[in-house]
Amino acid sequence: MPSNTPNTPNTAPSGPGPFRQLLPEPGADVDLATAYAYPDDLDRPFVRANMVSSVDGGAIGPSGRSRDLSSAPDRRVMGVLRGLCDVVLVGAATARVEGYAPVRPREVWEPLRRGRPGTPPIAVVSRTLDLPEALLTSAPEDARTIVFTTASAPRERRERVRACADLVVVDGLSVGPEHVVNALGERGLFRVLTEGGPHLLAEFVGAGLLDELCLTLSPRVLGSGAPRVVAGGPGTPGAPTRASVRNTPVRMAHLLEAEENLFARYVRE
Ligand SMILES: NC(=O)c1ccc[n+]([C@@H]2O[C@H](COP(=O)([O-])OP(=O)(O)OC[C@H]3O[C@@H](n4cnc5c(N)ncnc54)[C@H](OP(=O)(O)O)[C@@H]3O)[C@@H](O)[C@H]2O)c1
Repeated sequence: MPSNTPNTPNTAPSGPGPFRQLLPEPGADVDLATAYAYPDDLDRPFVRANMVSSVDGGAIGPSGRSRDLSSAPDRRVMGVLRGLCDVVLVGAATARVEGYAPVRPREVWEPLRRGRPGTPPIAVVSRTLDLPEALLTSAPEDARTIVFTTASAPRERRERVRACADLVVVDGLSVGPEHVVNALGERGLFRVLTEGGPHLLAEFVGAGLLDELCLTLSPRVLGSGAPRVVAGGPGTPGAPTRASVRNTPVRMAHLLEAEENLFARYVRE
């Protein structure tokens, strides 16, 4: 999730510089809403991820957040992607670290969201149900936060979340990506935008359920301590064992440039 600082303004006061298209053919004056349009006539959830990386593949900067990699054009793309989607999906660690709150409506989204709620709901996946309070208490009625958890989550927290959010409880110790996709599909939320983090994304990649990766390449080098945009850990689903290594071909749908940031859109073949 490039610059996953939620609710950042669509443009910096001076606004980001113009976006140039480099591929499939060079051109100026890119219309971001057209460039990032979801496929038409979806009949199942289409899972798009939006992540930012340094040029050496790091996803988390010295602040412990992705904002070290961010820029005005990156926030602009993030805003357009949020305006286009039906739901923003995140792992609970990202929601905690980045201080997620319900998405605020923006005037510029009106043409993008005609016939839909003014903002996409946030959907968050968590075992602990340790969630930012605002996600539970400040969401509008037509975009209530959706919370995915397991039957082993603390009972009191489950009850509290159920009272203020749309709670989906899955049997077992883990919420599988297929549970998330099915439940979002049942709610008619087909245009899915996941903003990570790297652990949640690893599970979607592992399950073969990531349809598209929008990757911002930020002109910085982070060094070897930074995790990648897709990263598991010992004991977590998606951990980097040989068995979890994939070699899935993707097609580059476009490559844009703004202020020395590259914006690639990769779609699964
Ligand atoms: N560069 C980028 O574009 C980017 C994007 C997003 C985030 N980030 C950075 O990445 C870091 C956070 O990412 P992360 O990879 O550590 O964590 P994450 O993927 O955001 O969240 C992991 C958490 O999600 C919940 N979760 C994940 N899979 C689950 C499952 N199958 N069942 C139930 N719950 C599940 C658990 O929450 P509980 O702990 O509540 O049980 C788990 O601890 C932050 O530093 C953030 O700034 C960077």
